[in-house]
Amino acid sequence: MTAYRVGLAGARRGGGIVRAMANHPQCEIATLCDINTESLEALGKELNVPDDRLFTEFDDFVNADFNVAVIATPIDFHAEQSIAAMESGKHVLCEQTMAYSIEDCRNVIDAAKKTGMTYMMAENYSFYHCVLEWKKAIEAGRLGKIYHAEGEYIHEIVDLLVDPQTGERCWRYPRAPIWYCGHSLGPLLFMMQDRVVRATGATPGRNMYPDEESVSFLDMETGLFLTEKGAVIKILASQTVKRYRKGGGYLTWYSLYGTKGFVESGRDPQDRGLEWLEDEDTKEGGARYVPTPFSDPDAPPEAKLGGHGTGEYYMVQHFINALNEGTRPAFNAVQAAEVTVPGLLAHESAMKGGEWVDVPQFRW
Ligand SMILES: NC(=O)c1ccc[n+]([C@@H]2O[C@H](COP(=O)([O-])OP(=O)(O)OC[C@H]3O[C@@H](n4cnc5c(N)ncnc54)[C@H](O)[C@@H]3O)[C@@H](O)[C@H]2O)c1
Repeated sequence: MTAYRVGLAGARRGGGIVRAMANHPQCEIATLCDINTESLEALGKELNVPDDRLFTEFDDFVNADFNVAVIATPIDFHAEQSIAAMESGKHVLCEQTMAYSIEDCRNVIDAAKKTGMTYMMAENYSFYHCVLEWKKAIEAGRLGKIYHAEGEYIHEIVDLLVDPQTGERCWRYPRAPIWYCGHSLGPLLFMMQDRVVRATGATPGRNMYPDEESVSFLDMETGLFLTEKGAVIKILASQTVKRYRKGGGYLTWYSLYGTKGFVESGRDPQDRGLEWLEDEDTKEGGARYVPTPFSDPDAPPEAKLGGHGTGEYYMVQHFINALNEGTRPAFNAVQAAEVTVPGLLAHESAMKGGEWVDVPQFRW
């Protein structure tokens, strides 16, 4: 039975999420919104959404008849649109990251508290098959206490910072690389069930694009974080890095060290990762090569429709399960802020030469 009538704002990347939702037996894609009529109509046609449920004005969309809002517009709009959706009685699945300021993150938390609606940040990399498998291993104590973890998300998107045809600055132009820390810090905190309490950042500056004035063109930003459970986390972020691989795309990489062993992913989605666990391996035998796939090999074929391996599929299932059970999902408003804010502060720290700063704590 259809329980959830889904409305999407932002018909480009948002298409991936709603394609995954369209295949969920409890969801129906009811309404779409985009300021670009071409993208709006194309997705409406693909998903059989009638013309009278296609909106170009967010204010009209948000008051339409549906009960789950997917927000996949540029990050500048995430907080304001998520709050408006919750205030009009919609649960929210919002693209990452949560917002560009601590104040906006607080406002989303307050709106979720006040309205009682469910908010989840759509941190899809946390639902990669390998991440879910490591999470189980950590929860079962197979790695012992995690004391160090690293995450890298480096993705050359210069063409999305400045349009190469028109020279126009795009919405990502003002975004510091480490503000987009959801795909690196998100999966680590999700697996470790931890939160960041102190942060620092460093950057080598703009060696590749010395004439560009925006922080988005920084070569790289590194964030170093201390967690509540006493671990250290290091993340790398870049939007300009010249580290290409055949087929293009991005590099995402994770490693976790525990008192009883370590796991790390391959440096390429096709690569093998490494694993050594005290209860299962010997020092002499050393680490084992292991597959670290983004897709669950046992998932049904439709599980890849949303993209990112089976990431979107399991993320959507997690969100819908939380709605069904009335529980708080992963990356709820507090946890979304816990992933987003350390990146904002690491950038601020990098701009001040790397001073350590306290990270505000968000409790419910
Ligand atoms: N999780 C992931 O893997 C992933 C991947 C790509 C993008 N994203 C996120 O998805 C979001 C969208 O990114 P994108 O790559 O699709 O960007 P995009 O610029 O390609 O598309 C954004 C769409 O939103 C529309 N839009 C802009 N302002 C709007 C408004 N006020 N109301 C309604 N529609 C509006 C635009 O017309 C456009 O169609 C961002 O938050 C981004 O960070 C996430």
